[in-house]
Amino acid sequence: MSFLMNHSKLEKNATLLLILSLLVVTVGGIVQIVPLFYLQNTIEKVEGMRPYTPLELAGRDIYIREGCYTCHSQMIRPFRDEVERYGHYSLAAESMYDHSFQWGSKRTGPDLARVGQRYSNEWHVQHLVDPRSVVPESVMPSYAFLRDTPLETKGIAGHLVANRRVGVPYSDDMIANAAADMRAQANPDADTKGLEGRYPKVKVSDFDGNKQALTEMDALVAYLQMLGTLVNFSTYDAAAGYR
Ligand code: HEC
Repeated sequence: MSFLMNHSKLEKNATLLLILSLLVVTVGGIVQIVPLFYLQNTIEKVEGMRPYTPLELAGRDIYIREGCYTCHSQMIRPFRDEVERYGHYSLAAESMYDHSFQWGSKRTGPDLARVGQRYSNEWHVQHLVDPRSVVPESVMPSYAFLRDTPLETKGIAGHLVANRRVGVPYSDDMIANAAADMRAQANPDADTKGLEGRYPKVKVSDFDGNKQALTEMDALVAYLQMLGTLVNFSTYDAAAGYR
């Protein structure tokens, strides 16, 4: 038991213990960090991700401004109960265009990472205007004013530029058409060919049910209806990232 005898020396000598502890932590750190330098990319590739449309991006800003994230996360963890309730666990690639990201574990309300297309636009509007009219036990506040607040279109091009600076691949074409694309997505009668070319799988609709006005409600519902719908899971191979 000479090994244990030596260990008692270590326990009585603070300096030696400190040096050897540092050594252990260093080795452990290197083992974790060094492999990352040899990976091409720490985000596995998936098909279908695209930058948010100007209307979705505006909706995302409203989501952040109104503090929806204080009650809702957008991160499905790889646990059976979460996957059964919300769908496929979240992939890193799904939030690669998020500045800032919406991960978290604060769930006063359900996770929203895959809420897109789960309800109708009408349901969302009704729920945001008066949550308790559709879910009687809900503690969610009312956001009825969004229906009456015109959506600001002026700053959207600059907002795309800002996102491009931090790595979101918005093209010059997308930036030049930002305000027009924003209006077109909320107007089923508009010519949306350009919009659809720039943003595959974009959903065009009169989201707030009021054709006369482009409102903050249009933007927020457009954002919610897109969440979790971009990645094509039929072509996604979870094992591919590790080969
Ligand atoms: C005080 C906490 C709180 C805040 C803030 C909040 N919510 Fe909720 N939310 C809830 C709760 C609780 C539920 C579950 C009951 C219900 O459906 O109303 C919910 C449900 C939802 C649902 C339905 C989810 C599902 O899968 O059924 C959506 C969509 C939603 N919230 C969006 C929002 C948006 C958008 C905002 C910001 C404008 C927001 N919430 C702000 C608490 C909150």
